Amino acid sequence: MRLLALETSCDETSAAVVGEDRVLSNVVASQVALHAEYGGVVPELAAREHLARLPAVVQEALDRSGTQPADLQAVASTLGPGLPQALLVGARAAQSMAYALNLPYLGIHHHEAHLYSPWIEIDGRTGEVGAAGFEPNVSLIVSGGHTILVHLISELHHRVLGATLDDAAGECFDKVAKLLGLPYPGGPLVDRLAREGHAGAFDFPRPLLRDPGDEFSFSGLKTSVRYFLEKRPGLADDPQALRDLCASVQAAIVDVLVSKLLGAARRLGVGCVTASGGVTCNSSFRERLTREAAAQGLRLRLASPAYCTDN
Ligand code: KG4
Ligand code: ZN
Repeated sequence: MRLLALETSCDETSAAVVGEDRVLSNVVASQVALHAEYGGVVPELAAREHLARLPAVVQEALDRSGTQPADLQAVASTLGPGLPQALLVGARAAQSMAYALNLPYLGIHHHEAHLYSPWIEIDGRTGEVGAAGFEPNVSLIVSGGHTILVHLISELHHRVLGATLDDAAGECFDKVAKLLGLPYPGGPLVDRLAREGHAGAFDFPRPLLRDPGDEFSFSGLKTSVRYFLEKRPGLADDPQALRDLCASVQAAIVDVLVSKLLGAARRLGVGCVTASGGVTCNSSFRERLTREAAAQGLRLRLASPAYCTDN
């Protein structure tokens, strides 16, 4: 079975061909540079850019995988959640191709796509491909738009345990980065600067860390950084203080994410945890989660960075 899959929910124009139990091609044209000057994604610009770039991106995905349209058995696209105008471009393109080729169209839930992304690749431990090695798990989807904790009871049966009550973790990274004068999207830059900073330099709140529920809240953390900076004007202009600030804020976010994920896994008695979404690229999150999951005897499957972001 060969599947052509399109993704245009936000600021990545992407097409992939999946077949023989693996990803045969994955082409992602990022629009980050286009939106950078506005400090965030402009929905109408994103939609127009998808429209302009999608034909070439689809062609490249077909070419790289050696696929002719006649080889396809289905066409899929992200159907939501996402920016409505942007989603429409990918959905209409996929539906039109499916119609023209007389193939089924599959509308994919954005969060479910992230949820299953840790299973795309060959498991280094078992050598099994994707869902073949599936086991019940608790999964954290953590991106610029969402922070959701999910219990995967069986391969196609899952239950949302909780989500953020306000900002997503990635949004918190990006908004704090903006307060620090860093360009959009700030998450990867905070990660990079934090590597040379002291995580214990400044004490920021860990919202809902001790709360027994599965909800998250990150808007208070962002606000506390804002008040902190207002009382210390110019602090972020000092390069070492900037690195320390990044490390301290990152530590607060990572503490909450790792604790909540592992806490839910212990409570539900699963042997495996997984994580996906853009923030799963964060090096400190990956390190902490790898270390603490191992210490608690939990198997961990992390989507590789290429499959963490929208694709
Ligand atoms: O999944 P994604 O590509 O798009 C959606 O939001 O759906 O996630 C993008 C988010 C942004 O907020 C970005 O700053 C964050 O993921 N991100 C990171 C890192 N890489 C991406 N945050 C922290 N550290 C990173 N290394
Ligand atoms: Zn996403």
